[in-house]
Amino acid sequence: MKQPCLSIILAAGQGTRMKSERPKVLHEVAGVSMIRRVLNVCPDGPAPVVIIGHGADAVREHVGDRARFALQAERLGTGHAVMMARDAIQAHDGPVLIMAGDMPLLTQEAVSALVSAAERTGAALLTSVLADPTGYGRILRDESGCVTGIVEQKDATPEQQAIREVNASVYCVPAQPLLQCLNELKNDNAQGEYYLTDCVALLREKGVAMEAVTADEFTCMGVNDRVQLAQAERVVRARVTEKLMRSGVTIIDPERVVIEETVCIGQDTVIEPGAVLRGATVIGPGCRILGTTRMESAVVGGHTTVESSVLLSARVGEHTTVGPFAYLRPGTVVGDHCRVGDYVELKNATIGNGTKISHLTYIGDADVGENCNFGCGTAFANYDGLKKHRSTVGNHVFVGCHSVLISPVQVGNGAYIAAGAVVNCDVEPESLCIGRTPIAVKQDWAKKRREQGNLK
Ligand code: UD1
Ligand code: CA
Repeated sequence: MKQPCLSIILAAGQGTRMKSERPKVLHEVAGVSMIRRVLNVCPDGPAPVVIIGHGADAVREHVGDRARFALQAERLGTGHAVMMARDAIQAHDGPVLIMAGDMPLLTQEAVSALVSAAERTGAALLTSVLADPTGYGRILRDESGCVTGIVEQKDATPEQQAIREVNASVYCVPAQPLLQCLNELKNDNAQGEYYLTDCVALLREKGVAMEAVTADEFTCMGVNDRVQLAQAERVVRARVTEKLMRSGVTIIDPERVVIEETVCIGQDTVIEPGAVLRGATVIGPGCRILGTTRMESAVVGGHTTVESSVLLSARVGEHTTVGPFAYLRPGTVVGDHCRVGDYVELKNATIGNGTKISHLTYIGDADVGENCNFGCGTAFANYDGLKKHRSTVGNHVFVGCHSVLISPVQVGNGAYIAAGAVVNCDVEPESLCIGRTPIAVKQDWAKKRREQGNLK
């Protein structure tokens, strides 16, 4: 029977090479912190133990109740870090999975392959063969190919440095022999640290065989600096765009979009270069996302076009067009077959099906019905300097250009607001609202002035 795995994640190090105020594992790859990415691939089992030290409070707060914590007050090495979880290991009768917290590309597949190998062989570790192994611990094997130990870059002889198989820093070891090895660790090495990697040779001495499971270079990548952080970001992005393209989304230039893994996009949607799609964004089928568009947790129905616009926690229906240069702020809900044109800002507003807001308009804190038409330059004066007020506009309402609706007002179904009105009272259904200063046109005025030499 398969025994549950106890996961331990090492996250106490400072991450000196990041040159950052923030603990290394809190740096994000494609919008998700490295520590969260590692937590996401932990197998089922007792609550994972995260070893914290540098920036302990920040890491603890970030991870929350997804894990238990063990404090490594002094950073004396990766082996010392695991010792901090001694109580949890002692209480666990089964395999222990140890992972470094700086492996944002680690996959569930690699972890389960490792756990299965450990069940089969006794213990297992994840390795990769790299073109450039610099910085990683090297895997030592005997003539028969069995793993005998790991030597760190700084302790390796030139011959050992030529080895291209490296340690990924993911291990699966039964709890009891692991504890024994941890107790035997010494710090007589180049860095004066208790290396977890030394457990591999110690386990072998105890007759515990160690199987190496090999994965690709990305899966095994440890992020130590910002150059590697950007490399990891590129890999995640490539994984995301490839998956989307295989599911039927056209991405004109996959290297010039930012799409987070959480984003869902329907078939036959076309994404042009410059799109930044984040969070819980959902885009329906047959859409066109054009120009530099940014969406954060936006929901867009099928066959809608969005061009060079920003949508933040906004919902847009089907067969609608948005932009160019529209700004849909949180709380916006736009219906089907609508038009939200250039320089239109919507905030906390619902817009009914078929309504057209074509240019230069602000609608904030309002409920607008179906099939309305807003002329160019309409504004809702929703703020009186102290409080926000909400207005309602019925169905089939025509709002002429350059009108201002001073909230709160109610405009009834079928009403017609003439251009240039300042609407500061309710408007009955089917009525005309007109508010203009009478103007005078004086015939021949200009002509006479010109004849007198008073006008050019
Ligand atoms: C480590 C491995 C190396 C491997 C590489 C893979 C050791 C000695 N070396 O080296 O063989 O090839 O990872 O990326 O294990 N940490 C603590 N407490 C400490 C020290 C480190 O919690 O006292 C944590 C760090 O926060 C980090 C992880 O352990 O998440 C790995 O530490 P790091 O310093 O990055 O190790 P590497 O030098 O990369
Ligand atoms: Ca590392």
